[in-house]
Amino acid sequence: MVPAKRWMSAAGALASVLALAGVPDLAQAAGRCGDPAQRPWCDARLGPDQRAALLLARLTADEKISLMATDDPLGGPLGGFSENAHADTNNGIPRLGVPPVYMADGPAGVRQGKATALPAPIALAAGFDPAAARRYGGTVAWEARHRGNDVIFGPTVDVLRTPLNGRTFEGLGEDPYLSAGLGASWVQGAQKQGVLASVKHLAVYAQESDRLALKMKVAPRTLREIYLPPFEAAVKTGGTATVMCGFGQLNGRWACEDGSVLNKILRTEWGFKGFVVSDHTAVHDAVAGATGGLDMELPVGMKFNAWNLKNKVPQQVIDGAARNILRTMFAHGVFDRPAYANDLTRIDRTASRTAARQLAESGMTLLQNTGGALPLKSPRSIALIGKGANEVPSGFGSAQVQPFSTVTPRKGIAQRAGAGAQVAYDDGRDHRAAADAARKAQVAIVFATDTQGEFFDKSCLALTCARDPLKGDQDGLISAVAAANPNTIVVLETGGPVLTPWAGRVKGIVAAWYPGQQGGEALARVLYGDVDPGGRLPVTFPVAAGDAPTAGNPAQYPGVNKTVAFSEGVFVGYRHYDAKRIKPRFPFGHGLSYTTFRYGGLAVTPTGVQATVTNTGSRTGVAVPQLYLGLPSPGAAVPQPPRQLKGYQKVTLAPGRSARVTFPLDRRALSYWDQAGGGWKVAKGCYRVGVGPSSRDLPLTGAFAQGGGAC
Ligand code: BGC
Repeated sequence: MVPAKRWMSAAGALASVLALAGVPDLAQAAGRCGDPAQRPWCDARLGPDQRAALLLARLTADEKISLMATDDPLGGPLGGFSENAHADTNNGIPRLGVPPVYMADGPAGVRQGKATALPAPIALAAGFDPAAARRYGGTVAWEARHRGNDVIFGPTVDVLRTPLNGRTFEGLGEDPYLSAGLGASWVQGAQKQGVLASVKHLAVYAQESDRLALKMKVAPRTLREIYLPPFEAAVKTGGTATVMCGFGQLNGRWACEDGSVLNKILRTEWGFKGFVVSDHTAVHDAVAGATGGLDMELPVGMKFNAWNLKNKVPQQVIDGAARNILRTMFAHGVFDRPAYANDLTRIDRTASRTAARQLAESGMTLLQNTGGALPLKSPRSIALIGKGANEVPSGFGSAQVQPFSTVTPRKGIAQRAGAGAQVAYDDGRDHRAAADAARKAQVAIVFATDTQGEFFDKSCLALTCARDPLKGDQDGLISAVAAANPNTIVVLETGGPVLTPWAGRVKGIVAAWYPGQQGGEALARVLYGDVDPGGRLPVTFPVAAGDAPTAGNPAQYPGVNKTVAFSEGVFVGYRHYDAKRIKPRFPFGHGLSYTTFRYGGLAVTPTGVQATVTNTGSRTGVAVPQLYLGLPSPGAAVPQPPRQLKGYQKVTLAPGRSARVTFPLDRRALSYWDQAGGGWKVAKGCYRVGVGPSSRDLPLTGAFAQGGGAC
């Protein structure tokens, strides 16, 4: 083994001394590459392609292959508990100044010792705000950097197919357009901090059940319109440096060996110039992986080693992978800077805490508010009921973070309520005792949580899940409390949609998601109206489990003989509910403000839609006007969803104020994927326009014709 870390820290120390002495350029040059006179690829004035070519010519065949795998069999989703436990490490090639590359999980904060636990990515999705996504990615990457990492595994942009997916909390919801915009912004924010993002998991990864062996049958149109757009945006708009391929087979090819995606779509069509890493243990065959477009195997070269690759694949394949890796490292300055120090003191925890709180506030989604029960009107007594009041829930697996510190809802609410109010707590195990506590208080707030994470799907969509006995009968608890106190508010701290059969019996429902380490503080501020609830649903909440996409069809989910047919095609998420005319409990895009808004002034052209939103209430509030298009179908073989999200904007408005919002439309926004022609096509016909506060509340409607069609 190469003593990479010792070597690295010596170079780092030299660079720090030079930096302290006020010679930053020399410190840079000291970087890790070496003297350009001896090592011409260390000349930072040359372009990354040229530098990679110069260096490649000096590597032995074995050295090239050694770059193609990380060197750390431990770590991964079960590791990360110690401060130095990177998820993966590529030792580099010290002989020629190729620095080691350290990598960390993940999409909700750094999984390496303690870190700032941001609200779950699904809460970020609920924020409907690309600027928030940039800040989110930037916060994660900043901490990853100061834990000594060069690469962060995130964001997770796999579009949600079934709300039973154990990784629902970790993704950005059920809409490709929303996921694409937020994912690309996340990548930009992260890479601005000097860390390489790794968007994951290409191409389709929709369930935990049988995830390692799943055979997925997905039509090209479904792939292009639903599952690929977030990756495409991460590459084209976000400029992601790396991509992680996933588990399972797509139409007969393992994800990390699938040349039709990795070579053809990712590199040739999208122009990706970075490198592809495999998910842990996702490589099945070395030759298929290397020729299929995988560059680096994680966590260790079980397949990508000299035995399997040397003289078994053309040298140009190995050269290609090594070049992709080196070129990316040059392009992102990895050779030209000192190693990042694993130094907690450089993390500004106050700034991270503020980010965690504000991101949580911006994703908190007010689902129901009967009679203006919220915001709270400074009640003198509050009963907090349910264990969730005393916890900071999170999903588990590679997206779990060990928080630096936490504020539980109980703590946050008690602090906000102040000394003048009584805040009682009951863990909710005994429903009668909980009802008694509720009866004695002016307001009862019940907390309900779900269990989610990597490795398993959820066993049911209800809060009270027969196969999740640890949670107890949460639906029964809510009903008992609601019967005892007419002012009952439910706070859902779940990673995704759950059933809410008691909705008609409670006044308020807040989807707080897994709100992260500052969640209790953010929740208190939302409940008291210090801040408007900023969230809108990035996922549909169904009335019944059977209403959800893929429900009741084992061939669709969880699969038969480990084979899953994506036969619903593009009818994923709200597209499914809309096409089947199923009324959701809470539709995609829904979320209330404490004020009211009026929509007007619709102006429609094929290149853009404009509308005016006005705050008609008496408080400052957040509106998220959304644009949906109903595309004309070019024929029975290409059924079109009734509407698809094509634009949104988050605006904060004072009482009486208006904002004119513009949603530009490009050709792609009007296109469907034409399977026969293998390209994007605009159908002839009438394009229906809807603008409003949710996918099921579109007060402004219009239309325009395209391709010689008429309306
Ligand atoms: C997960 C990845 C993660 C990797 C490394 C895998 O189990 O699917 O998302 O990045 O482990 O921890």
